[in-house]
Amino acid sequence: MQNTQDYQSEFLSYLENFSKNREPKNLYQPINYILKLGGKRLRPVLTLMSADIFNCDYKKALDAALSIEIFHNFSLVHDDIMDAAPLRRGQLTVHEKWDVNTGILSGDAMLIMAYQLFENYDPQVFQALAKLFSKTALEVCEGQQYDVDFETRDDVTIPEYLKMIEYKTAVLVGAAMQMGAIIAKASEQDQNGIYEFGRLLGIAFQLQDDYLDAFGNPETFGKQVGGDIIENKKTFLYLKALQFLDGSKKNQLEQLFTVNLEDNFEKIETVKQFFIESGSAEATQQEIENYTKKAFLVLETLNISDDKKLLLKSFGTNLMTRKV
Ligand code: IPE
Ligand code: IPE
Ligand code: MG
Ligand code: MG
Ligand code: MG
Repeated sequence: MQNTQDYQSEFLSYLENFSKNREPKNLYQPINYILKLGGKRLRPVLTLMSADIFNCDYKKALDAALSIEIFHNFSLVHDDIMDAAPLRRGQLTVHEKWDVNTGILSGDAMLIMAYQLFENYDPQVFQALAKLFSKTALEVCEGQQYDVDFETRDDVTIPEYLKMIEYKTAVLVGAAMQMGAIIAKASEQDQNGIYEFGRLLGIAFQLQDDYLDAFGNPETFGKQVGGDIIENKKTFLYLKALQFLDGSKKNQLEQLFTVNLEDNFEKIETVKQFFIESGSAEATQQEIENYTKKAFLVLETLNISDDKKLLLKSFGTNLMTRKV
């Protein structure tokens, strides 16, 4: 087994080799830009780690890891258009640096590149990877549509929210891990188990993403802090706050989430105050921990050694305390 940094640097040099300055520039430059903008490389590391855990040379999983990371970055380019986000990883988003049409088409090309990378596997593995990928990618679209639909709904429930984040985020984390297991030819039971571990960790991950969107440090977070509040996103923070507040405060919060303002400074400050004083910020932290622990329970069902379980646990624990 390697440590996280080793998987990451192996992945980065593979990515470096993959990126080519192709024509037309206005299609490929934005692709290289977003792919090299940094990011945690969480999903590809998990793919490599999973292959390794199921006793396969993890380098065989590099194409799948790259595919997952390219798909993830494609989804971010389109997500930033949909969320009107100005910043990504501390830099301008693709549609801000170029324009919306560029973001759409470069994103489309990335989705195809992601698929194409599976051609590097033999037919049996190709089929299993492509099947999982298609299912997952469609679910991500479904999750993203729910996310947008919820912006203008005032009756979103917590179970609906959880379903939405499972689809837009968690299934990809699960699939990233299952792909490593597919390449390692792990048993079906282990494949499903590692998917489930990733899915639960992915739910915790998105809850944490929502938390940081409100409470992250603007200096280091890399995205616009308060972006979800500006866009009236029905996050766990918001839904829990409504549950905990009553009377005029509840009404005020609901009212704030029906408006689209030019200047959002006061809205963001007021909403964050509601999140804190209602206890919803704390409840969100608790829910992140709950889902992380649920993920750890699944590890017990896997046919892997205890030191490998420990490695996955420490990865999960680190994610819980991340700041970006
Ligand atoms: C951001 O993903 C989008 C979500 C699904 C929350 P990451 O937080 O993994 O983004 P990068 O790749 O590290 O920038
Ligand atoms: C993103 O969710 C999920 C996908 C990109 C599929 P968010 O909209 O919360 O992600 P960030 O916060 O912009 O990274
Ligand atoms: Mg977004
Ligand atoms: Mg979004
Ligand atoms: Mg977010």
